[in-house]
Order: sequence, then structure tokens, then C-alpha cells
Amino acid sequence: MSGSVACNTKTVCVTGASGYIASWLVKFLLLRGYTVKATVRDPNDPKKVEHLVSLDGAKERLQLVKANLLEEGAFDSIVDGCDGVFHTASPFITGAKDPQTQLIEPAVKGTLNVLGSCAKFPSIKRVVLTSSIAAVAYTAKPLTPDVVVDETWYSDAEFCKESKTLAEEAAWSFAKEKGIDLVTINPAMVIGPLLQPTLNTSASQGQKYIPMLLMDGLTCAEDKPFSPTFQVSKEKAKSLGIDFIPLEVSLKETVDSLKEKKFIDF
Ligand SMILES: NC(=O)c1ccc[n+]([C@@H]2O[C@H](COP(=O)([O-])OP(=O)(O)OC[C@H]3O[C@@H](n4cnc5c(N)ncnc54)[C@H](OP(=O)(O)O)[C@@H]3O)[C@@H](O)[C@H]2O)c1
Repeated sequence: MSGSVACNTKTVCVTGASGYIASWLVKFLLLRGYTVKATVRDPNDPKKVEHLVSLDGAKERLQLVKANLLEEGAFDSIVDGCDGVFHTASPFITGAKDPQTQLIEPAVKGTLNVLGSCAKFPSIKRVVLTSSIAAVAYTAKPLTPDVVVDETWYSDAEFCKESKTLAEEAAWSFAKEKGIDLVTINPAMVIGPLLQPTLNTSASQGQKYIPMLLMDGLTCAEDKPFSPTFQVSKEKAKSLGIDFIPLEVSLKETVDSLKEKKFIDF
């Protein structure tokens, strides 16, 4: 996308705006002319906000607001007057000792907290929730290379007692009850350059796996074709005009970004 700013009068909220996906979202929304209310836990931490305030259009149309998912009602005054809300904030603790209280409860509670605020303000036309492939792909059915997972799938919450599955399930039930127009996005592992200066959880996974993927790529090129464990339908995304970046390009951009920020050295 070019750096030219489009004209727009709409205001949207992005929760967890310092995060990896959210930072890109804020960048594109500003470029498209939106006014963005970006929620962060600590607006005074330069590592969390400097990359946001230096974005094109930020000076004119970015508002940083402090909010914690677990504080009930914290999003009321923020989403009031917004046309849309992108809810990306999510607790993530690697190796949580007690996933039920450290991850599952905060994820479900936090999502319902944001949706609860959205339900109070009719200006909000749509809420987009960043869920996860974990919320759709895991049923008791075996995942084999011929299986195509699409938007009709839902993970079995008993089989896959996982924070994103339960948070998405709770979000759909609340949205239906309150008449909220909800859209969920179910990414698998997201890769690509980082805007923020710190490593988010998925990028730190990337840091671990990318060297392995590169090695695998080399091995595949030598003797065996790449075979997926299962397939994920791209039809819905393509129907929205989304053009997927080829894996090799994304991998290269991720590695270049991790190198530039000195997270890897090879
Ligand atoms: N990246 C992936 O590969 C991937 C794959 C599937 C799904 N997802 C989902 O996509 C969303 C964004 O992922 P990401 O990789 O961009 O995550 P990320 O970089 O780790 O960012 C998550 C954000 O959530 C915020 N957050 C955590 N706990 C919070 C709380 N109690 N109150 C307010 N904010 C809180 C963090 O705020 P601080 O900056 O204050 O810590 C952080 O900015 C998440 O919901 C994630 O589960 C990501």
C-alpha cells in the first residue's frame, strides 16, 4: 500500500494496539483515513507506543487510550461513538502454570467485557474479533491432508479446552443475544515484518521455527514435495479481495525484519 492517506470520517477502536497484528491494523486504518482509538495497557511505555505514534496520520488521527481487558467497563467510554471495533487484545502467557485462571478465564472475561461495552453503543456497526484457528480446526475428526477446514467448522470446546475456542464461543453467544454484528478472523501462525520493537508471542515462535522451516524448505527442494497436514480454505478471504503473499516472500520478510531488529543473527 502506498503512503497516501485516503479520506474518511469514521472512527474505529483497536484493542491491544501495541500488538503485532494490531500495529499493522492501526497502520492500514490510518492510511485509509480512519480516526483510530487505540487501546494499550501502558501508554507511557515507549516500547509499546512509539511505533504507533510515528505512523503516517497518527499525529492527526490516532488517540492512545489506556485500558485493561480485565477491568469491567474499561472500554465503555472508548468505544462510545466508534463505528467499528477491532478486538485483538488477548492474554497470552507461555507455559502458564494454571491455564484455567491465567488464560481461559481472562480471555473469555476480556472478550465479553469488550463486547459488553460495544452492546451499549448503537453507533457501533460491526465488531471484528481476532480469534484463532484453534477455535475452528479441532474436533474429534482426524485432520488429514485431504481435509479442508473452512468457516463452517467449530472446534469442540470439550475436545479443545483452549482460551480462543472458549472466548469465541462466548463471543458468538453474547453477540447473538445482544444483536451485535460480529465477524471473527481465525488466523493460524501469522508471519511477516514486525512494526513494534519487541517480540510478540507469535514472532518469538517464528524466531524458533523459521530456521527450521528454512532448513525444511531446502530439504524439500532436494528430495520431497511439501505436504500439508491439513488444508485451510482461503475462499472466503479471497472473496473479500485479499491477495495472499506467497509463503517464501513472507518468510523472507519475517527473517529480514527479525535480523534488522537483531532478534536473530544468521
Ligand atoms: N500472531 C498470531 O500468529 C496469531 C495466531 C492466531 C490468533 N492470534 C490472535 O490474534 C490476536 C493478536 O495477536 P498478536 O500476535 O498480534 O498478539 P500480541 O502481539 O501478543 O498482542 C496482544 C496484545 O494483547 C494485549 N493484552 C494482553 N493482555 C491484555 C489485557 N489484560 N488487557 C489489555 N490488553 C491486553 C497486549 O497488550 P500489551 O502490549 O500491554 O502487553 C498486546 O498488545 C490475539 O487475540 C491472538 O490470540 C494471533
